[in-house]
Amino acid sequence: MRKVLVTGGAGFIGSHFIRHILTQHDGYEVVNLDKLTYAGNPDNLLDIEGGPLAKRYRFVKGDICDPELVGQLIGEVDAVVNFAAESHVDRSLLEPAPFIQTDVYGTYCLLSAVAEASGRIERVLHISTDEVYGEVPAPRRSKEDDPLHPRSPYSASKAGGDMQCIAFIEIHRLPVVIARPCNNIGPNQYPEKMAPLFISNALDDQPLPVYGDGRQVRDWLFVKDNCEALDLLLHGGARGEVYNVGAGNERPNMDVVEGILDLLGKPRSLIRFVEDRPGHDRRYALDFEKIRALGWSPRHDFAASLEKTVAWYVDNRQWWEKIKSGAFRAYYEKQYGARLASARSAPPANA
Ligand code: NAD
Ligand code: DAU
Repeated sequence: MRKVLVTGGAGFIGSHFIRHILTQHDGYEVVNLDKLTYAGNPDNLLDIEGGPLAKRYRFVKGDICDPELVGQLIGEVDAVVNFAAESHVDRSLLEPAPFIQTDVYGTYCLLSAVAEASGRIERVLHISTDEVYGEVPAPRRSKEDDPLHPRSPYSASKAGGDMQCIAFIEIHRLPVVIARPCNNIGPNQYPEKMAPLFISNALDDQPLPVYGDGRQVRDWLFVKDNCEALDLLLHGGARGEVYNVGAGNERPNMDVVEGILDLLGKPRSLIRFVEDRPGHDRRYALDFEKIRALGWSPRHDFAASLEKTVAWYVDNRQWWEKIKSGAFRAYYEKQYGARLASARSAPPANA
C-alpha cells in the first residue's frame, strides 16, 4: 500500500489521521477529498501543507457523493479511509437530510467506485461509530455482532452506511473493514461538540449548557489513540470484519464538565442544566477485546486525555475564536438560545 484516499480529512479525526499516516509511514502518499462543509477546516492541516510532508499530500475539494470525481480518485490510489460524514447529533435533529445524503448515499458512492475498480483497491476502512448500537444499560458493553438500534437521524444514517458496507462485502467481496470508535476528544474538534464547546465557553466565562441531568455516560478516547487503532485496522484488520474502538474511559458527562472547570480554575456556577436532547442515549460502552487481540490498546486514560485537550484549547484560542465568530453564532442561538433562557443551576429533581 502506497497511496491512500482519505475522505473528510479536513475535519477533526481525519486531519489527525492524515498527519499520523504521513509521519508514521515513510513514502506513503495521501489524497484528501473533503467537501469543506462548515466542519471542514483547512487550518487543521496548515503544518502539512506548508511543511516537508507537502510533497506526499494533495487536497481535493469535492463531495463523496460525486461519482465521477470519486471514480477518478479511486483510480489513483491503493486504499480508501472514509471519515467524510455529517457528524453532529444535535444538527441531525434540526436537519437530517444532509446526514442521509453523505453518511448513507456518499458511502454507497465510494463503495460503488471501489467495486468498479475491479479488485485493484487493497482495503477500504469505513469509520462508523459506537452510536449505531444505541444505548446500552450498565453493565453491558456492545459487541461487534450485537444488533444495531440507532435512535437519532445521525446514528441511523451511520448505521445505513454500515449496512451499505456489509452489502458490498457480501455481493462484491470488497475488502472493507468497519471501525466503530467511541467519543473522541482532543485538539481541533469543532466547538459544537461538548468538550470543545464547554472548554471554549468556560474560557470566555460563558455558561455550559448541560443536557438533562448530565448523568449520560460516554467513553472518551484520545484522538491520537484512535488514529493508531485505525492505522492498525487499515493494515491488519480482517476483510469484512467490524472492530469496536473503545477507551475504557466511561464517565458521566458531569465528570467531564467538572474536570474542564477544575483544569481551567473556573467556577461551577457556569454550569446550566438545559432541556435535554430528544432521544438522548443514556449510555454507550464498548467491548473492544477484538482490537485488543490485534495488539492495540489506548495510551491515554481519562485524566490525560482531558488535560491534553484542555491545554490545546487554552494555547490555540485563535483556532476556535475564528470558528465561533462566524456562522457558528446563528447555530448557537438556534440550538441554545431558548434553552439557556429557561435553564436551571441544579439538575431537574425528577431525573
Ligand atoms: P467532523 O465533522 O469534524 O469532520 C467531517 C469532515 O467530513 C469535514 O471535514 C467535512 O467537510 C467532511 N465532509 C462532510 N460531508 C462530506 C462530503 N459529502 N464529501 C466530502 N467530505 C465531506 O467529523 P469527525 O468528528 O472528525 O468524525 C469523522 C468520522 O468519524 C465521521 O464519520 C464520524 O461519524 C466518525 N466518528 C466520530 C467520532 C467523534 O467522537 N468525533 C466518534 C466515532 C466516530
Ligand atoms: O459516540 C461517538 C459519537 O460521539 C460520534 O459518532 C459523533 O460523531 C460525535 O459527535 C459524538 O456524539 P455525541 O452526541 O456523544 O457527542 P457530543 O459532544 O455532542 O455530546 C457528548 C455528550 O454531551 C452527550 O451525552 C450530549 C451531551 N451534551 C452535548 C452538547 C453539545 C450536553 O450535555 N450539552 C451540549 O451542549
